[in-house]
Amino acid sequence: MQPLDCAMTTELARAIQNLERNGFLDLEVDPELDLVAEINRLKREKNAVILAHYYQDSEIQDVADFIGDSLGLSQKAAQTNADIIVFAGVHFMAETAKMLSPQKKVLLPDLKAGCSLADSCPPHLFRPFKEKYPDHIVVSYINCSAEMKTLTDICCTSTNAVAIIESIPKDQPIIFAPDKNLGAYLIKKTGRDMVLWNGTCMVHEIFSHERIVKLKARHPNAKFIAHPECEPHILEMADFIGSTTGLLKFTISDSATEYIVATEPGILHQMQKASPHKTFIPAPPQNNCACNECPHMKRNTMEKLYLCMTYEQPEITLPDWVIEQGVRSINRMLAISEKAGLGLKKD
Ligand code: 13P
Ligand code: SF4
Repeated sequence: MQPLDCAMTTELARAIQNLERNGFLDLEVDPELDLVAEINRLKREKNAVILAHYYQDSEIQDVADFIGDSLGLSQKAAQTNADIIVFAGVHFMAETAKMLSPQKKVLLPDLKAGCSLADSCPPHLFRPFKEKYPDHIVVSYINCSAEMKTLTDICCTSTNAVAIIESIPKDQPIIFAPDKNLGAYLIKKTGRDMVLWNGTCMVHEIFSHERIVKLKARHPNAKFIAHPECEPHILEMADFIGSTTGLLKFTISDSATEYIVATEPGILHQMQKASPHKTFIPAPPQNNCACNECPHMKRNTMEKLYLCMTYEQPEITLPDWVIEQGVRSINRMLAISEKAGLGLKKD
């Protein structure tokens, strides 16, 4: 780190003191600074890698070393040779990276970048729920806290969820947590009867059936594509259902030229880049709000990214027992995914 002048040292000490309350280092950033150049310089100097989820702002995606879905991001976090992983995503994703690479420093630009779905399944409530089904195994969507992963047998993401469920013997009963919408979709897709935890994602349950129907009528040639975190009555209308990577790949290989996309609109940046001649319309939410944007993902900004790389804070830390017990469920998921030929190949 560069030597700091006295005023800056005082400011930094104040920002660090307030880190837990604010979630990020609340320091002034010179508006004239070329943040892209500075972030690239910090990456080189610190041997840091930036992993960004598709729901991040486009400028963050453009400065990242890897952009992907939850499965691709965990695979990258497990593989990287960097000393520092900077996670441009939400808290559970950075925790997953820490569990997979405990020796590395993992930074998250804003600790308050949480997830309504992960929050909908607190471990102290899930534990007694699980005890009611002693012969069930627990499959948890990776969108859950690190502690929830210690109560989980196998994690899954929306890319590998079907393969994970199908890898479990048919006579083995399953609890699926925390997303009831993804769970209902998996029951339909695999024919398995699972016990579901009652959690949802605030972004994917906000789409308006009525407004999508009207939009489809105005764009009769558009295909309607949706993420499986959406509610069942929205998924019923879909021409294609998939994870963020699945949706992106579909728009590249499919012959249509217009798509109505029911997931967080951050993904449209990569869709548009991959298919500049096609049109992508975000599916409308229930009110005229921007509530299909994930407020947690959008807490990350270029300024916060620059500050967290400069001062190497906020850092994700986890108790050893959480890492040891939680990583097993992630490693089982990665092994099944590799066997099923899903996600990234090793570098
Ligand atoms: P995927 O990118 O794995 O499809 O997950 C979507 C999501 O909601 C992440 O928070
Ligand atoms: Fe969580 Fe939903 Fe935001 Fe993804 S989009 S981080 S599931 S709240």
